[in-house]
Amino acid sequence: MALTITPLTAHTGIEATGLDFAQPIDPADQTVLRRAFVEHHVLVVRDQHFAPDQFTAAAQLFGEIQPHDKKERHVPGHPGVDYVSNDQIENGRRIIPGETFHTDHSNHPSPPKATMLFAVELPSRGGDTQYVNMHDAYDDLPADTKQRIDGLKAVHVYQSKYSPRPLSQISDDSRRKLPPPGIHPLVRTHPENGRKALFLNPVRMESIIGMEDNAALALIEELMRHATQKKYEYRHKWRHGDWVLWDNRSVMHQANPDYDMKERRYLYRLMLKGETPV
Ligand SMILES: [Fe+2]
Repeated sequence: MALTITPLTAHTGIEATGLDFAQPIDPADQTVLRRAFVEHHVLVVRDQHFAPDQFTAAAQLFGEIQPHDKKERHVPGHPGVDYVSNDQIENGRRIIPGETFHTDHSNHPSPPKATMLFAVELPSRGGDTQYVNMHDAYDDLPADTKQRIDGLKAVHVYQSKYSPRPLSQISDDSRRKLPPPGIHPLVRTHPENGRKALFLNPVRMESIIGMEDNAALALIEELMRHATQKKYEYRHKWRHGDWVLWDNRSVMHQANPDYDMKERRYLYRLMLKGETPV
């Protein structure tokens, strides 16, 4: 099998076929995949058959595993492998992880550089994941807006009091082990591709340093409205065997609860350690 890569849109997403991660990956192919990830931000590898340990091994080709804050939630028998599913119900409300645009674990001083999912069970239709390109969104901002947000820093906590949605329960033990809040620039520079990007997360941003909350919320809303336009989007329609790795320094993402909740959606999930945003 030969590795073939094909862009999925002009700006975001690339598809790789001809790979089997259950076998050793040729070093030259690893280099191609790492470059594709950094330049295209969302790497989709088709037709995989991961057991949890193989999923972890594939992740480690791209970096070091960043453990999830909710240490109590993991694939049974595999404490190092997290998952997302649609079968959590709390207080009579179904929790769909990732239901609004966000970037993962930005409450950490050094948030994860990447997140990956592997589709184990999928609904017969719907349940897409949407990504928006935060490099292009930044580049297109009017010059006066760029000037206005230059140097601003936001405080990212585990769950902002202004979050548009609740997060699922976290155990007391996991809560005690949370890191201190992340204080991150609204505009960060990607350490590998050199591009600037907006770095936003309404679920976790609780304030912008030096601004009144109302003004900060209005600014975040304005930037979110801009960044989530369709022209910045790659919308991933899941197929069985899809393994998707995305760059949290380059894109925001969101899940869609638009399918029959009698059907199960279950994906393995892992994150990779990242650097302090600058
Ligand atoms: Fe997420």
